Amino acid sequence: MPKADAAFVDLLRAELGEVAIVTGSDADDQTIDAYGKPTAIDSVIVRPANVNEVSFTVKACADAGIAIVSQGGNTGLSKGTYLPEHQPSIILSLARLNQIESIDPERWTITAQAGVTIQAVQEAAAGVGRLFAPDWGARGSASVGGAVATDAGGNNVVRYGNMRDNVMGIEAVLADGSIWDGRRSLRKDSSGYDLKHLFIGSEGTLGVVTSAVLKLVPATPYATSTLAAITGLDALMPLLTLAQKHGAGTLTAFELIPDVAMARVDELFGRGKAIDAGTEFSVLVKLASSEPVDDMIASFLSAGVDAGYIVDAIVAGTPDQEASLWTLRDDIPPSTTYRETQHHGIKLDTAVPIDHIEEFIRRITASAKEIAPMALCYGFGHIGDGNIHMMILPITEETIEPWLEVKPAMEAAIDETVFDLDGTLSAEHGVGLLLRDRVGPQKQELEWDMMRSVQRALDPDNVFNPGKLIPDPAS
Ligand code: MLT
Ligand code: ZN
Repeated sequence: MPKADAAFVDLLRAELGEVAIVTGSDADDQTIDAYGKPTAIDSVIVRPANVNEVSFTVKACADAGIAIVSQGGNTGLSKGTYLPEHQPSIILSLARLNQIESIDPERWTITAQAGVTIQAVQEAAAGVGRLFAPDWGARGSASVGGAVATDAGGNNVVRYGNMRDNVMGIEAVLADGSIWDGRRSLRKDSSGYDLKHLFIGSEGTLGVVTSAVLKLVPATPYATSTLAAITGLDALMPLLTLAQKHGAGTLTAFELIPDVAMARVDELFGRGKAIDAGTEFSVLVKLASSEPVDDMIASFLSAGVDAGYIVDAIVAGTPDQEASLWTLRDDIPPSTTYRETQHHGIKLDTAVPIDHIEEFIRRITASAKEIAPMALCYGFGHIGDGNIHMMILPITEETIEPWLEVKPAMEAAIDETVFDLDGTLSAEHGVGLLLRDRVGPQKQELEWDMMRSVQRALDPDNVFNPGKLIPDPAS
């Protein structure tokens, strides 16, 4: 992996100061990802302090033919921040762009720089009696820029949509270093192409998002969740419908929690299982509102029991109990990576139309049983959005070798099932390098060609995150 040469780094150092340049093992440490490993070894990290310094860096890189890989909280799971193999490159860290620029409760917006964490945005919103709705386990390190770049989702998408639905405007640095200030906060605007949407989900391939105007929504001080053990996968869609009906607009999250995931969390953190009804699956359902929701939770549960779908349930009766149910959910991703053996596994971020969820889980489970019986297969996550994270993980040392032999066949079976069910391999984690060679069949070649045209128009010299996201043309 060639890196930017010393003379070029000196040029950046002279303009941005020593504080902006990180190299050697310090740089390795700053690229530690969700697996606890550096995504790049011996790289050059450039840490501009503001948008003008980002602009300077981009222009200098473009002039010198050096690729730019933008990095936020580095919580991504799709190898989106891996450096290109054959092109000199730098990592452009947005960590120092960490200011909340403004918060405007009457306009219901908050404007935050790219390096601000999702949690900091949530806390600032709460401070003025508003809610920033997107939320997921890595909230404390995931940043606004990365969340915009991957169109991140999380647990509340069923009610509030993903990042795309929560971004009103952006500021971005383009390939020639120019600064596009599109930080508008208009609820309606039909003045032509909505270009911010090209950058949302672009994974750093079109420019560097430096700031975003984010939407705020009414706070929901009353939130109650239930963890309900269910009879099986066929209960999921009827229960989702019941939760929508009894929740009357307050359904905020509807997550699948398999018993095996609770067992993995228990193994890692030793807190016991939250519910142990002997069923294979539970759902974690959250209702939230400006008024108490306990009656709605109760009527949802009794309807679920009457219909024969729910066999047992716990309801959070206090804020602490509420928090601990969601800690259980937050702990599932770390429990999929903490053993070294699990790093060889498959962690899926697929989505299918929601009525195909049951079939999707059944088919992947059956394929894993047949192709990879040595691996542990289970799925968790965002039922309400059709976005299930299926895990196919080797757990013991002895299973790694046989697993690696069948892994390509397992991936082929996954792709076939996903595309057969009109789904996507990337619902909220992005495509990166991980899925780039596999996403092709999801879309017509014509659609990929349109994306290639947009990419060429905005980044003609292929400076931004080359080799990610867009597959090579089909032969
Ligand atoms: C989640 O829903 O917890 C995340 O998308 C993370 C993951 O799949 O590891
Ligand atoms: Zn997720």
